[in-house]
Amino acid sequence: MTDIIELVLQDHHAVAGLFDKLQAATSADDQTELFAQVRDALERHASAEEKVLYPRVRKEVPDGREESKDAIEEHDQIREALKEVADHDAGTTVFWLAVDQLVATTKHHVGVEETGLLPDFRKNSDADERAELGRRFEEAKTKAPVS
Ligand SMILES: [Fe+2]
Ligand SMILES: [Fe+2]
Repeated sequence: MTDIIELVLQDHHAVAGLFDKLQAATSADDQTELFAQVRDALERHASAEEKVLYPRVRKEVPDGREESKDAIEEHDQIREALKEVADHDAGTTVFWLAVDQLVATTKHHVGVEETGLLPDFRKNSDADERAELGRRFEEAKTKAPVS
């Protein structure tokens, strides 16, 4: 079983890689396909964090109530940004503006998790718990509702 923190970091890394590919893609077909992968990955990741990780953060981290509330608000901003990209044809100027917004919103949130929420959770949990949560996180990702 894998520590949930490792799994979350792996997802962040994978999404950053997808963003790079999307921003480098030259055909509208590739851009559409890569955006679909970004959307699927972000929706599953956010949903699984909300189901499996944040409830524990809320309970076990001293500032966890505030941290998880802010994180869910940031997820909602990411979901709005995803919708904005989906509303435009790939390759158009407005599509790229929406992609830029999505990348900035996601990077900000990932930074908050990696420098605050996750280290705080690591301090207030043990390896067995994090491994069990890792198993549940992977399961939640496969069952997440996606667009
Ligand atoms: Fe995350
Ligand atoms: Fe998150």
